[in-house]
Amino acid sequence: MAEARTANRPVLRVLSGEAIAPPPAWMMRQAGRYLPEYRATRAEAGSFLDLCYNPAFATEVTLQPIRRFGFEASILFSDILVVPHALGQDVRFVEGEGPRLDALEGRAQFERLREAGDPAIFSHLAPVFEAVERIRGALPHETTLLGFCGAPWTVASYMIGGRGTPDLAPARALAASDPALLDALLDRLVTVQTEYLVRQLRAGADAVQIFESHAGVLPDTADGDALARFSLGPIARMIEGIRAQVPGARIIVFARGSGLEGHARVVPETGADAVGVDWGVDLAALRARVPAATVTQGNLHPETLIEGGRALDAAVDAILAATDGTPHIFNLGHGITPQTPIAHVERMLARLRAGR
Ligand code: CP3
Repeated sequence: MAEARTANRPVLRVLSGEAIAPPPAWMMRQAGRYLPEYRATRAEAGSFLDLCYNPAFATEVTLQPIRRFGFEASILFSDILVVPHALGQDVRFVEGEGPRLDALEGRAQFERLREAGDPAIFSHLAPVFEAVERIRGALPHETTLLGFCGAPWTVASYMIGGRGTPDLAPARALAASDPALLDALLDRLVTVQTEYLVRQLRAGADAVQIFESHAGVLPDTADGDALARFSLGPIARMIEGIRAQVPGARIIVFARGSGLEGHARVVPETGADAVGVDWGVDLAALRARVPAATVTQGNLHPETLIEGGRALDAAVDAILAATDGTPHIFNLGHGITPQTPIAHVERMLARLRAGR
């Protein structure tokens, strides 16, 4: 079954190691506030979480960028923070400020979270699986559907801090004061999110992406390898667990802020099929550093997309040059921002697809 689907879906072909020119494309946060149709559906849904938990609305916004731009991949509309919510933590999205959670400051709050085997976790998340089913049914055959979740460290850092902070001080402080508690939280997230991605794959996702947005800020470790201990290790455990239940599952890992060396370690140390590359990494240098068969994705600076014009053309050309003849999926190096002109997305795709 998987083989037949792979044949006609360019993103899955690249994830299997094939180089395609020009590369297939999608954008992180492609369903978002830069689109008027997203803003309209978002207003109709009410709050951001209402949008995430309503399968009809979530399906609609997922399809909007596909209709408008014909991207080769579609990503489930949801958020990485629905998992802490399903674990029983209070999660809200404050307009203009981002996510707010009731900070997990110690053992008392951890004890109140749902245990990994609690069926209430997946009944809470049932609308997500229903959205996946509906989206797969509505997408063009050739469009790949990606499911996703946050990596354990990134999700844990939001759960502990209650919000995103540049230095992740609360999560790093907990790592120092009660390392066993941080490990217990990471383990819970590994177990629950392994099951979460398995269920997304069974509901119809063709592949999944794990977002480690906080790979650049990690606690100190005695051996100096915090990336292995807190990020790549837990992700590797998830991937092993997913593949034990869904053999051959295709998985992309985006370890933002981990630098050239960190990016080079993602595939060998996690078993992922592809590494998502942030905008801070020199893509040509990364391609030179990793085996030619390594599948890469991403790297266009979201600010260059805002800038547009010749700078954008040059950046698209540079990515094509850096990845020529190698398996690559065209994408941004982080999510598209609300102020990005739609005309610039069109220009980016025209430049990319010019050779077709
Ligand atoms: O990419 C997509 O189109 C799929 C949907 C998606 C969203 N969030 C929708 C969203 C995905 C894959 C995410 C992942 C996510 N969420 C990450 C990892 C990727 C990254 O950006 O680093 C993180 C860290 C979060 C947590 C989160 N959610 C933050 C920090 C914010 C606020 C930032 C902002 O732009 O306001 C969100 C809100 C959010 N998630 C929005 C969207 C479209 C904007 C909310 C709105 O419509 O008001």
